[in-house]
Amino acid sequence: MTETAKFRILVTGGAGFIGSHLCDRLVQKGHRLICVDNLYSGKLGNIRALMNHPRFEFIEHDVTEPLAIKGSLHRIYNLACPASPPHYQRDPIATIKTCVLGAHNLLALAHEKHARILQASTSEVYGDPKVHPQPETYVGHVNSIGPRACYDEGKRCAETMFFDYHRRYGVPIKVARIFNTYGPRMLENDGRVVSNFTVQALKGEPLTIYGDGTQTRSFCYVDDLLNGLELLMDSDSEVTGPCNLGNPKEESIKEIARMILRQTNSRSRLEHRPLPQDDPKRRRPAIDRARTLLGWSPRVALKDGLQWTIDYFVLKLFTGRPVSRRIQVTLPGSAVRVALGARSGRMSM
Ligand SMILES: NC(=O)c1ccc[n+]([C@@H]2O[C@H](COP(=O)([O-])OP(=O)(O)OC[C@H]3O[C@@H](n4cnc5c(N)ncnc54)[C@H](O)[C@@H]3O)[C@@H](O)[C@H]2O)c1
Repeated sequence: MTETAKFRILVTGGAGFIGSHLCDRLVQKGHRLICVDNLYSGKLGNIRALMNHPRFEFIEHDVTEPLAIKGSLHRIYNLACPASPPHYQRDPIATIKTCVLGAHNLLALAHEKHARILQASTSEVYGDPKVHPQPETYVGHVNSIGPRACYDEGKRCAETMFFDYHRRYGVPIKVARIFNTYGPRMLENDGRVVSNFTVQALKGEPLTIYGDGTQTRSFCYVDDLLNGLELLMDSDSEVTGPCNLGNPKEESIKEIARMILRQTNSRSRLEHRPLPQDDPKRRRPAIDRARTLLGWSPRVALKDGLQWTIDYFVLKLFTGRPVSRRIQVTLPGSAVRVALGARSGRMSM
């Protein structure tokens, strides 16, 4: 196939935060999409606009069960797995099964269809790292029996299976280690830093900071991440990864909270709570491999990405409800401008 060829692509976890943006993008590029999701943490609302599209098909299915797809299949993006701690810890056995059995079922499908398969792995494979920043060569520091292990060890095992299918059967694999990603369509209640703080700030509630807030994270805007995933999928066959995809700019949790307070004009206060078990203190990707092999690095400034995310949550939280101030919103990648008027308190588009 040529570079401009149109593929038939399976996206698992396609109704989730990252998966739904990926589906939007791939359909827009002219590919035929099959989106598989069991709606554990994803929402049909995320893919509603695609539902009647002639090149889009949704299958409600749990990837822990084998998946039969009729006809050809060129590419698989395996994103199925709850990504935020409250969701993956809600049913830890389902999480580890999704990681491991899901990887097995999709690798078997890739093998059968001679399809290229990309695994959405995670920075959590590094655990609470002793090396900083984390290069792909660092083997990690993970507690195999802690409350996060269903996810961390599940993802590690999935990586192992990807490389074993590659060595044993020659399945063309790509393993992306994704670091914290944020943007529109994150769930309001998913316990992730950006969505938590944004929703709390907009509602005038205290922003909950676990620990003293000096622990750091690096935040990558979803569009930047999608660029990296696509470049990795399109890369030469000898490029298997693992490849870190994330923003190397490190911020403390406290600084993120302050930025969100400023950008939402919120008067919420900061409220400190005890640090959860196994919470990593520092997390920052070394992205030399992505830069060299893919020519990729994040482009979106944190301030801009936060603003687009805040705008999304403003729409989500206040649509159709009375609001007490005037807000102008421009959705990223869209011509839609929204004014929330002080007088009527209703939204006009
Ligand atoms: N968002 C991040 O910061 C981040 C960081 C590292 C890795 N990742 C990985 O990227 C992928 C997508 O993350 P996200 O943030 O969009 O999370 P998400 O929870 O929004 O999306 C995951 C999707 O997978 C679906 N799913 C879960 N279990 C399933 C199963 N057994 N069968 C079928 N579908 C299932 C969910 O319903 C959901 O739609 C995940 O694999 C996650 O581990 C995300």
